[in-house]
Amino acid sequence: MAAKAARDRPGGLTPGHGCAGHGECVENVTMRPQASPYDAIAELYDSWSRSVTEDVGFYVEEAMRAGGPIVELGVGTGRIAVPTAAAGIDVIGVDSSRGMLAVCAERARLAGVAARLDLRVGDLREPPVGERVALVTCPFRSLLHMRDDTDRLRALAAARELLLPGGRLVFDVFTPSRGDVEETQGRWLEREPGIWERADWDLETQTLTLSVRGESGEATMALTWLAPHEWHVLLEASGFDVEACYGWFDHTPYAGGEDTVWVAKRSS
Ligand SMILES: C[S@@+](CC[C@H](N)C(=O)[O-])C[C@H]1O[C@@H](n2cnc3c(N)ncnc32)[C@H](O)[C@@H]1O
Repeated sequence: MAAKAARDRPGGLTPGHGCAGHGECVENVTMRPQASPYDAIAELYDSWSRSVTEDVGFYVEEAMRAGGPIVELGVGTGRIAVPTAAAGIDVIGVDSSRGMLAVCAERARLAGVAARLDLRVGDLREPPVGERVALVTCPFRSLLHMRDDTDRLRALAAARELLLPGGRLVFDVFTPSRGDVEETQGRWLEREPGIWERADWDLETQTLTLSVRGESGEATMALTWLAPHEWHVLLEASGFDVEACYGWFDHTPYAGGEDTVWVAKRSS
């Protein structure tokens, strides 16, 4: 799986100019109590996802094209949000993991862009965002954490609600190949030095149970995939026109691989 293998895993707060009206503001982070498996691996995530870099430029370019602020759903440790902020674009980042957001806040502070990140604890199906923006992103397969169509439709509807007329939702997901499944099924693989990962694929329910463990933590999480045409149907049902479906972050049109990168415009 080499280069692609880097993406075959999901991984991997700040100046609260948006605190008012969204819950309790603690040290510049809007907090809402929620549990997340990512909390246990927040310190591990950046090392785990270290080799995943191919999407960063793509999302930063999209953000620069749209102009800020943008909303990133499932912002995580800021792997994309921090470079986006460094490019001069304000980012409202939503994530259900306080641990991930805490790492993100520190990363932003170290990069000198904390003032451009507004991090909020919340669920992407019900994001605590009152602002309306030209771009909503959901990078690195975060939508695969939605378990069924009800949740997917809730997430897509919520993203649409955040968009200004003509605004865009950009996200990427994957659909595993049989080869990938056979190669990794039930095996602990060392993805990065000292970081082990195990994939248990259920082809019937289209669910990947992914476990990761390292010195600083371990977690197990579920990701549920769809075929690309199913994403297309859901997007249209949610009030989006699909502008592009790429097979990679270099804008190569999708031609049957594992990755899909979607650009969907809010229909009027
Ligand atoms: C694979 S990581 C992606 C993080 C970041 N976007 C990146 O590109 O590195 C998925 C992120 O989605 C978050 N997440 C999962 N389910 C969520 C939900 N229902 N609401 C909000 N965030 C969620 C996780 O906490 C995690 O930070």
